[in-house]
Amino acid sequence: DWTIENILEESIKKVKDKVGDKKVLLALSGGVDSSVLAGLLSKAVGKNLTAVFVDTGLMRKNEGDEVESAFKGWDLNFVRVNAKNRFLEKLKGVSDPEKKRKIIGEEFIRVFEDESKKIGKVDFLAQGTIYPDIIESGLGDSAVIKSHHNVGGLPDVVDFEDLIEPLRELFKDEVRKLGRELKIEDYLVNRQPFPGPGLAIRIIGEITEEKLNILQEADFVYRDEIRKAGLDKTISQYFAVLTNNRSVGVMGDFRTYDYTLALRAVETTDFMTADFSKIPYEILEKISSRIISEVKGINRIVYDITTKPPATIEWE
Ligand code: XMP
Repeated sequence: DWTIENILEESIKKVKDKVGDKKVLLALSGGVDSSVLAGLLSKAVGKNLTAVFVDTGLMRKNEGDEVESAFKGWDLNFVRVNAKNRFLEKLKGVSDPEKKRKIIGEEFIRVFEDESKKIGKVDFLAQGTIYPDIIESGLGDSAVIKSHHNVGGLPDVVDFEDLIEPLRELFKDEVRKLGRELKIEDYLVNRQPFPGPGLAIRIIGEITEEKLNILQEADFVYRDEIRKAGLDKTISQYFAVLTNNRSVGVMGDFRTYDYTLALRAVETTDFMTADFSKIPYEILEKISSRIISEVKGINRIVYDITTKPPATIEWE
């Protein structure tokens, strides 16, 4: 019967039969789908799997280390590429959101290409395509956006014989169940969606290392308080945005002129429409005072109370 144990066993067997002792290459993003895929492939082909994790430097605080440590001890070749400088260099002076996306997508492919050349001949390229990716493709903006960054360009730059997509018949909740069955770390399996371009589209305007650090720290505190309040179970997606606005404030005897941070939290089932979360004021108050006191560079915090539409979930 159709239990998750059976699906897992079946998928592992299928991959084993197809791959034999040939080599598999995977672009691991640390998102739910590619993480579960890495776990599954590891069980199926072990060291014949090379998972390349491109750390763009545009991820949330500690995220690169978390992804790396989640796969410590697994039977696979894990390659982490620290490419932060490459990405920041390419993004210098760029403030248009679509340009940012394009640059990041292209640089990602280039980094991956460089890395795959070091590995040599690859027999199979694995992709974490899931069922909704197939039925949605071409419909709606987020589907288009996703196909744009779901490493869609990789097949063109890697020389391989065949593509393997073991998750193609599964829905998200089934992928998560597989992940739990595989004993992949909870924080990867239950992860909220995170855009491929990462914090680059949550820093309005030009991206600098300073702004990136400010946003990582502020977003970290926000997520910490949401989790402590137990709201991470009901909120679909929550994150901080570093606006390009600076305003006057006062700290002790001094006048400040620092950034305005926006907090976003939405509830949705399909991410095509969304309502803003009604986070209790006391919790917003706590988040605000913690961020102001712990993160240098921010002196004003606003909460985004727009629905989608007319706004989008992200600010860029
Ligand atoms: P919007 O902002 O369009 O977001 O309401 C809908 C969902 O898509 C995510 N999103 C992206 N995901 N690359 C991605 O992989 C992107 O460029 C991108 N832009 C938005 C967003 O986080 C939300 O879950």
